[in-house]
Amino acid sequence: MSILSGKKILLGISGGIAAYKTAILVRGFVKAGAEVKVVLTPAAKDFVTPLTLSTLSKNPVHSTFFDKESENEMWNNHVDLALWADLMLVAPATANTLSKMANGTSDNLLLACYLSAKCKTYFAPAMDLDMYQHTSTKKSIKTLQDYGNILIPATSGELASGLIGEGRMAEPEDIISFIEKDILATLPLKNKTVLITAGPTYEAIDPVRFIGNRSTGKMGYAIANRAASLGARVILVSGPSNEKVAYTNIEIRKVESADEMYQEVHKYFNEADIVIATAAVADYKPATIATKKIKKKDASLQIELLPTKDILASIGAIKKSQFLVGFALETNNELENAKSKLKRKNLDMIILNSLQDKGAGFATATNKITIIDKKEQVLEFKLKSKIEVAKDIFDSILHKI
Ligand code: CTP
Repeated sequence: MSILSGKKILLGISGGIAAYKTAILVRGFVKAGAEVKVVLTPAAKDFVTPLTLSTLSKNPVHSTFFDKESENEMWNNHVDLALWADLMLVAPATANTLSKMANGTSDNLLLACYLSAKCKTYFAPAMDLDMYQHTSTKKSIKTLQDYGNILIPATSGELASGLIGEGRMAEPEDIISFIEKDILATLPLKNKTVLITAGPTYEAIDPVRFIGNRSTGKMGYAIANRAASLGARVILVSGPSNEKVAYTNIEIRKVESADEMYQEVHKYFNEADIVIATAAVADYKPATIATKKIKKKDASLQIELLPTKDILASIGAIKKSQFLVGFALETNNELENAKSKLKRKNLDMIILNSLQDKGAGFATATNKITIIDKKEQVLEFKLKSKIEVAKDIFDSILHKI
């Protein structure tokens, strides 16, 4: 999934020939999972039709403060539009629009939106080469950058005038990847690696049977998605689970048994900055795995179980600068048990969920957690969706690292 997924993008189109490319731009944003609303300057409508843009964006498109021709004439509230947006992009930004933006002119809907917006604004200039080189254009661009807006530079090539030089609007796919990279570079977990264990483990008895547990991996996968959305490289060591990840910056390492999970975690531990162990690892495994299916007999069957290695404790024992987070699923003496696990496994934080709380634990879409840190500070949360819980967990981690 693109980092633009779920983002609300306000696209302002001004009147240059490059406006014809904005249909592809809107399509690209929508494909990336963003929600797009479009405002045009009146001149932009000569180059690209509102119908094309509203169809592609699946949202009404506006170019005036009210729609004169509409039977249900309505004021197009520029403030609402601007405040709705997570980011604004002005593309193409003509010399005229750049100059007006730089000077605070507000004589069309696009400019009023720009002035009202509190979000990050990108602008992609497009004009003939002499206009692009003109001192006043350069001054407008510099002023806009000084105001905190982000320039997506024009490129060189053949221009609509037939001249060859700088002034072409960046290609739609390049604009999209420019914005994606820019967002990624500002995310709090950029350049960090987060190692996560998730799901149950299966401990084989024979080729067809195993000892397992009811964990589905939901919490671990939600945590992996959250880490990825914050810009981290994520390594997700997952036991058997039907959950799916939503981001391309998540590398999944599928395992079955506690021993395999142990191996994989140790393989990546040195690369990790943060480790979050959500897996419900089996505490015992059969002493031997029968090579052939065990046949039914009338007599009772004994299976000898040996303890598995405690993965989290093993990395707690060797940790250097890694921030270690464990989970504790408890049924009684919850707080005490969780605190003692935190100490025993040398953790920086432990997430307690109690099976006494309705809606917490395995296979539910919700969870109710209590976060305990190294100083034994306790933070209790309400019952929430596992996606919301993952956000709370990272909010706490980001305060500590
Ligand atoms: N854990 C682990 N390896 C194990 C067992 C547990 O990495 N073999 C991790 C879990 O992923 C979790 C934490 O340790 O983050 C606590 O797991 P939990 O099952 O609650 O505790 P246990 O240490 O197994 O103790 P008990 O089952 O007695 O409560």
